[in-house]
Amino acid sequence: MRYRSFGKVGWQPSALGFGCMRLPIKNEDTKQIDEPEATRMVRYAIDHGVNYVDTAYGYHGGQSEVFLGRALAGGYRERVRVATKLPMWLLKEPGDMDRCFAEQRERLQIDHIDLYLLHGLDGPRWELARKLGVPEWAERQKKAGHLGHLGFSFHARLETFKDIVTGYDGWEFCQIQYNYMDTEYQAGTEGLQFAAQRGLGVVVMEPLRGGLLAAPPPAAVAEVFERSPARRTPADRALQWLWNQPEVSVVLSGMSAMQHVTENVDSAGRSGVGSLSAAEIAVVDAARAAYNSLARVDCTGCEYCLPCPQGINIPRHLGALNEAAMYGVLARYRRMYSRIPEDQRPGACQACAECEAKCPQGLPIRDLLAEAHRTFGDEAKPGAE
Ligand SMILES: NC(=O)c1ccc[n+]([C@@H]2O[C@H](COP(=O)([O-])OP(=O)(O)OC[C@H]3O[C@@H](n4cnc5c(N)ncnc54)[C@H](OP(=O)(O)O)[C@@H]3O)[C@@H](O)[C@H]2O)c1
Repeated sequence: MRYRSFGKVGWQPSALGFGCMRLPIKNEDTKQIDEPEATRMVRYAIDHGVNYVDTAYGYHGGQSEVFLGRALAGGYRERVRVATKLPMWLLKEPGDMDRCFAEQRERLQIDHIDLYLLHGLDGPRWELARKLGVPEWAERQKKAGHLGHLGFSFHARLETFKDIVTGYDGWEFCQIQYNYMDTEYQAGTEGLQFAAQRGLGVVVMEPLRGGLLAAPPPAAVAEVFERSPARRTPADRALQWLWNQPEVSVVLSGMSAMQHVTENVDSAGRSGVGSLSAAEIAVVDAARAAYNSLARVDCTGCEYCLPCPQGINIPRHLGALNEAAMYGVLARYRRMYSRIPEDQRPGACQACAECEAKCPQGLPIRDLLAEAHRTFGDEAKPGAE
């Protein structure tokens, strides 16, 4: 295993961290973790040098923390730092922080949470956190010895990210979605560097874009990889691209099978800042361009089209059209579509065209929603992935 720097925290995390959001499950029920297998995976990772495990109040319907508490018994707890997150969406009044925190320590069977993040911070949640006195509350928990370091996880826009980073001196680390396709999405490369320059450790989540970058690539991207001077699996290439950057502290992968763990541990052992040649970096840049050339819709996700009077999450469906075209993952979006209330699906569009009047890209949104309905909805033929 290789170890890296972690900003002002001054501790060396393993290059690979274990994300406990996609553990193996039983009966296709995310609440039913396959505990023997998941325990074997987490312990293998720790036995091979992983010292960072990440969970959250809500993962696996609340069962991830419970599972981790049991998996870390027998001496494993002492060999790792445990990160978990305060569910910001449950906070209404100051007492809610104490209630969640106590519940989490009980689930995890630990008195001291090493790394605590405000989960999914964005502008309104950060405002609420300040109103409820969350930073002061965290300081008190630190003094009482219950909390090690405070950070936040983030999925909103770059400007908001910078506001949050600069809005409180007490941040010690943050967690961002980052991979070679998301260099200009959410915090992106600029946000990564902004936080690192200010002394924050930066934890990367979704390094494989939730698995999309580990799947066999489409022909246009496979051709690019063929030109690479180094033979790598798609997952290894995506992970090495992250570890090549000095600002990245830990890369969390949500490994769902033992094979993922052994492969990613092996990748981490070969990783290092500046270890990729210019030719390999150019291959990743070309792969990004090849994936983007397959996008179906020129939607930037600006959300100016919202709110839709019908309650349709328009950017989500246009994004799904893109991802289906780029990564070939139709089944994933058919499942997503089937879980949306029928009156909020693209098929429920009333063609009022309010969204089209507001779209800066001038997109034919009504036609695109009809396409999304044909592609993912009732008329879609099941089976083809
Ligand atoms: N705070 C937040 O808001 C937030 C949000 C997202 C994630 N996270 C945290 O960050 C962690 C990492 O994010 P992520 O789970 O999205 O990570 P990821 O590494 O981008 O995606 C994980 C998926 O990639 C695939 N995979 C992993 N290693 C592989 C390998 N060697 N070969 C082939 N496929 C491989 C698996 O997909 P299949 O299962 O499909 O095979 C796995 O489920 C999460 O587990 C969670 O702890 C936090």
